[in-house]
Amino acid sequence: MVSVIVATAKNNVIGNKGDIPWRGTLPADMKYFAEKTTGQAVIMGRTTYLSIPAKYRPLPNRLNLVLSSASIPDEGVITFQSLQAAIDYGINQDKEVFIAGGGSVYKEALNGQYQIDRVLRTLIDLETEGDTFFPTLDHTWQMAKEECHAKDDRNKYDYCFQTYERVRL
Ligand SMILES: NC(=O)c1ccc[n+]([C@@H]2O[C@H](COP(=O)([O-])OP(=O)(O)OC[C@H]3O[C@@H](n4cnc5c(N)ncnc54)[C@H](OP(=O)(O)O)[C@@H]3O)[C@@H](O)[C@H]2O)c1
Repeated sequence: MVSVIVATAKNNVIGNKGDIPWRGTLPADMKYFAEKTTGQAVIMGRTTYLSIPAKYRPLPNRLNLVLSSASIPDEGVITFQSLQAAIDYGINQDKEVFIAGGGSVYKEALNGQYQIDRVLRTLIDLETEGDTFFPTLDHTWQMAKEECHAKDDRNKYDYCFQTYERVRL
């Protein structure tokens, strides 16, 4: 199974100036990401990998597969020069593969050339400025599941965990 996993604002913003605009304000989404990806393989672009605070990377208990034309020297990271090679590696290790950004990697993953089974999107009830966007999901995707939560004293915004699957023809 190959999944895209992302959190977006309502205007599809996923990042600004190399960071996530809502960082630290939505721990429920961090927990969701950890629950889904722990024990599995996570594919990230170099920029996203390096945006994770140093003490939290590589992501623990996961295969960290980083896309870059260079080599990332961190112990526990495997570098790939193509998305397909990283996907194949994760599958061959009997892992579920999660494509975790950033913008350039999501765009490539959803360009129709890859076998992507589902998109796990956390939709945050927020419109915010940004320089990196999640691509619009085309008509081949439909929402199969949605679970919404109200903001609370730990989570600053309302949010929904959405699962998109391919439309069955
Ligand atoms: N909201 C979310 O869920 C979420 C998730 C992840 C990231 N983000 C945000 O997204 C932003 C980063 O996105 P971005 O588009 O700027 O960068 P990115 O996609 O994280 O990384 C881009 C880099 O990855 C490498 N790369 C990408 N595709 C490749 C391929 N097919 N083959 C080889 N290398 C490849 C290249 O590295 P080299 O230059 O080394 O060749 C490229 O410069 C940040 O703001 C981050 O916080 C948000």
